[in-house]
Amino acid sequence: MRPPQGCRRRGVIAGTVTLCLAAGWALQTPGGVSLRVPQPNINATVAQNILLSVEYSCRGVATIEWKHVSSRGTTKIVEWKSGNYVNISTVYKDRVTVFENGSIQLLNVGVRDAGYYFVTVTEEYGTNIYGTIVVNVYEIIYEDLHFVAVFFAFLTGVSAILICFMWLCNKSLHLFQKTTHKLTASTTEEIELETIEC
Ligand SMILES: *[C@@H]1O[C@H](CO)[C@@H](O)[C@H](O)[C@H]1NC(C)=O
Ligand SMILES: *[C@@H]1O[C@H](CO)[C@@H](O)[C@H](O)[C@H]1NC(C)=O
Ligand SMILES: *[C@@H]1O[C@H](CO)[C@@H](O)[C@H](O)[C@H]1NC(C)=O
Repeated sequence: MRPPQGCRRRGVIAGTVTLCLAAGWALQTPGGVSLRVPQPNINATVAQNILLSVEYSCRGVATIEWKHVSSRGTTKIVEWKSGNYVNISTVYKDRVTVFENGSIQLLNVGVRDAGYYFVTVTEEYGTNIYGTIVVNVYEIIYEDLHFVAVFFAFLTGVSAILICFMWLCNKSLHLFQKTTHKLTASTTEEIELETIEC
């Protein structure tokens, strides 16, 4: 028995649609999204600006989210969708710059900025990928610097005095040598004269 004409056509259409959908799906999500974190460990000092550098690639529009995790808890820093919106948390307002490749720059870091930074890149179809950067922030100990400065000034002073002293010594030694020369010279002359007279 041959199926009715309409049924067959419907079957063909359904088949074509399924094929198209499958092809479309295959084009849109093979491998999804990738993320490169070239420097997963950053050492900074207080008041420095740091670049949390990553580079993502994906098909379509991605949403990027950065979070900071430390012993104080988790804070959302920024979330943006390329070409759509940038949503920076109030805590980080004026301190964060976002870049097209997914990186962020954090200005004027403090000790409390140390910790883990998690970045999540989510592509349109829901696939996502994570990256982590560990940031250490070191304090410059100003007391130490002050001590070093004072010590350095002290050393400079002492060496200046020493140089003056040496210069004076040298000078007086020269003077002394000249006078003794003159003295010896005149005594010898006298002696010579005396011997001639005799
Ligand atoms: C940061 O410092 C740690 C030790 O304090 C060191 O092991 C690491 O290599 C440093 N990282 C960079 C990027 O300088
Ligand atoms: C991301 O872009 C910023 C600014 O253009 C650049 O400094 C940084 O090196 C880039 N990161 C990577 C991993 O290419
Ligand atoms: C931006 O963040 C605020 C608070 O976290 C939220 O209420 C708002 O919906 C966000 N906007 C977008 C476009 O995601």
